[in-house]
Amino acid sequence: MDLAQLSPAARWASVALCVLPGVAAFKLDKPAVNLPKPIASAEVIALGKALFHEKGLSNPAGQACVSCHDQSTGYTFPDSKINEQHGVAPGATAGRFGSRKPPSVAYAPFMRSGIPVYDKTAIAWVGGMFWDGRAKDARDQVHFPLFDPNEMNNQLHNVGQPQMLAKKLKSGPLAPLFIRAYGANVFSLKPEQLMDKLAEAIVAYEASPEVSPFTSKYDAYLEGKATLTPEELLGMRLTTGSLSGRPGALPFRKSAHCTDCHGLSNDLKNGPDLWTNSCYANLGVPRNNASPYFGMTDSKSNPHGYNPKGKDYIDMGLAATIYPYYGWTPRTPHGPDPLQLIGTFKAPTLRNVDKRPNDKFVKSYMHNGYFKSLYDVVHFYNARNLTDVPGELIDYTKPNPYGSLKGKPLFPPPEYLEPNTLINPTGLSLMRGAPKGGPSGAINMSDPDAMQIGNLRLSKREEDAIVAFLKCLSDGYFKR
Ligand code: HEC
Ligand code: HEC
Repeated sequence: MDLAQLSPAARWASVALCVLPGVAAFKLDKPAVNLPKPIASAEVIALGKALFHEKGLSNPAGQACVSCHDQSTGYTFPDSKINEQHGVAPGATAGRFGSRKPPSVAYAPFMRSGIPVYDKTAIAWVGGMFWDGRAKDARDQVHFPLFDPNEMNNQLHNVGQPQMLAKKLKSGPLAPLFIRAYGANVFSLKPEQLMDKLAEAIVAYEASPEVSPFTSKYDAYLEGKATLTPEELLGMRLTTGSLSGRPGALPFRKSAHCTDCHGLSNDLKNGPDLWTNSCYANLGVPRNNASPYFGMTDSKSNPHGYNPKGKDYIDMGLAATIYPYYGWTPRTPHGPDPLQLIGTFKAPTLRNVDKRPNDKFVKSYMHNGYFKSLYDVVHFYNARNLTDVPGELIDYTKPNPYGSLKGKPLFPPPEYLEPNTLINPTGLSLMRGAPKGGPSGAINMSDPDAMQIGNLRLSKREEDAIVAFLKCLSDGYFKR
């Protein structure tokens, strides 16, 4: 990548809109959703499913992919208590936790692949797997949790041990499934090659209709099989800013700009909506003080997965993935941040964000699991820059944004407070005072409330409508 060429646009990478060009309005009377075709044989998918659930693969045994990505919660962490108390997930080794919340694995194989790159059309960094994009696609991704010391831990001296896994696979209960999927000679493959087969099978399962079925009420609605309630319809219009809910259609009177980043496809013939543009942003999510990761400072018991910074740890996000390509190591948040990527995270899919086994079940949200309900998430988007004094705005571009406030901020400070990175730091409309060439160009200029986050001026009723609509994105509403 040529840095000089990137700079002016990349300055805006993190405040980007991720808006892709609009296409003609969608007509409801013509269901036109093209479902993805199966990407592997039934045998490979069956193997992938068994691998996803196999608890003998971790070190020590007891943890599988499903332990952190369960269907009942839309393939995120299935323990309500841990979600509520900590927000992040424990690993196979007792006492170890990761620093991030497990995102959903559903639909991951369909997301934009490749190590994140700057996309001039979207005015954003896009692509990759994980909150920081460090895996180039779903297949590449599978290798990480298997070897991560704070997850399935198949490593020795900080080096992943494919042969450790290959041995377990060959002598384990899944050996016959491997042979059925890949032939009698599969175990004469090198351990690394066997890992590739394992990854291929798991991704085939992730892409299969069992994990990624596209059976939400929203899908039923698009296909003319369901009607949204008036509240859900209002929610859809606010979420998308569009009267029909499709990109490029007539604008609705207000927009919460959600689909700027959690995007929809312009043409459903290309496949159903994924509800993510795989783009990156620093929303200013508060630090999650309840994360056990802050206390994981013991280098003796966990030499490769411990947290050397202790309570000063700040998640670098996309910077940790991209900067090594330039030879920069963003060791501290106040070190070099030339592309303003520190603290930016991937916008996850909104599919299944509400899915939970029962109403009392608590899910955690965002990269660090700080938020515990969708109401809190939507309220945060609406009011991040507000205090309890009506009309007062927090301006994060000031050296001390909290210095002269009369009221109490509605939310704790951002985990990484850097105005250049933070989306819409002033909480004002992006149209006012935004430099030329900035993201304001991509926004609908006729919308007086054009701003992405911080001060959306949504009423409580409108916030509730957005949540009601997000519930329509849970799979299992109908059968195909
Ligand atoms: C200990 C809990 C845990 C286990 C076990 C686990 N994961 Fe994850 N998974 C996570 C966390 C946490 C993240 C986010 C990590 C990050 O962004 O750095 C994640 C991220 C992912 C993603 C990225 C999704 C996206 O949109 O970027 C996929 C796909 C995934 N995991 C699949 C798997 C598979 C397949 C397995 C089994 C081989 C697995 N996970 C095992 C916790 C876990
Ligand atoms: C500027 C881009 C952007 C806009 C606009 C945006 N989001 Fe997000 N969204 C993100 C990013 C980035 C994350 C992850 C941030 C993090 O973890 O720090 C996220 C995370 C979320 C999550 C958490 C999902 C999970 O699995 O933990 C939800 C829910 C969500 N957004 C809903 C919404 C809704 C509803 C709107 C509109 C009111 C919206 N988003 C607008 C970029 C955006």
